[in-house]
Amino acid sequence: MAGRAPSPPETWDAFFSDFYLRAYAADEREGEAEAQALAAARLAGCPEGGELLDVPCGFGRHAVPAARAGYRVTGVDRAAALLEEARRRAGGERWPKFVTADYRELPFRDASFDAAMNLFSSLGYLGDDEDTRVLAEIRRVLRPSARLVVELVHRDRVVRGFAEQDWRLLGEGRLLLEQRTFDAASGVAQTTQTLIDGTGGRESRSFSVRVYSATELVAMLTRAGFAEVRCYGDLEGVPFGVDTRLVAVAVSP
Ligand SMILES: C[S@@+](CC[C@H](N)C(=O)[O-])C[C@H]1O[C@@H](n2cnc3c(N)ncnc32)[C@H](O)[C@@H]1O
Repeated sequence: MAGRAPSPPETWDAFFSDFYLRAYAADEREGEAEAQALAAARLAGCPEGGELLDVPCGFGRHAVPAARAGYRVTGVDRAAALLEEARRRAGGERWPKFVTADYRELPFRDASFDAAMNLFSSLGYLGDDEDTRVLAEIRRVLRPSARLVVELVHRDRVVRGFAEQDWRLLGEGRLLLEQRTFDAASGVAQTTQTLIDGTGGRESRSFSVRVYSATELVAMLTRAGFAEVRCYGDLEGVPFGVDTRLVAVAVSP
């Protein structure tokens, strides 16, 4: 592909670390992740008490409340620091189970799960071919007619609402600054995030991610072997549009 490519694994390892926990885990809105998890499980058609795969699960913000709601949840991620926080949140309960793995090679038998969710822009780190491989691997471990819910920011929305720079106020007087560029030829967004603490101390991470359009994601899901794909604008199933997030629901054959 001409132009930029997604960042290599060492960049992702440096980002999905203590840095990510400080930027995202300390300032969650009460009940938000729980509502998302339950909506995603419903949209995925997971039966009550069914086996639900959360891949990648990050620090467990969806897996833990979904398990408390009765689903038998397995969370998979490759980031050790995030899984440690996920286990702490689970507090020694039987569910969810957390597994360290690369999502291109899931350590489960074929047809192990009733549903799967891939939430919060969790594709685009590997590029078109390897991200398609991730989707094919998730399909492999789903039972026939089971559904995968993918939720992410899509290209049309990124382009229309493009801001080169913005910031978010975190707790304790901290700031998260984001600076972005977007390479339209490759569809790759480059972002630098800077955490600024209460005393003015700064720490930055830069990364490049492939941002898919709905058309591209549907084509990838089809290539990955899914039988039917529908697009929505959120996890409650509102209509999809340029300014909504993208939620794709793909059915395993
Ligand atoms: C933006 S986070 C979202 C996590 C979670 N779905 C959430 O909503 O909090 C993306 C996650 O992808 C994981 N990840 C990135 N590359 C991966 C890979 N090759 N295999 C497994 N997990 C990966 C990261 O460790 C990180 O936890």
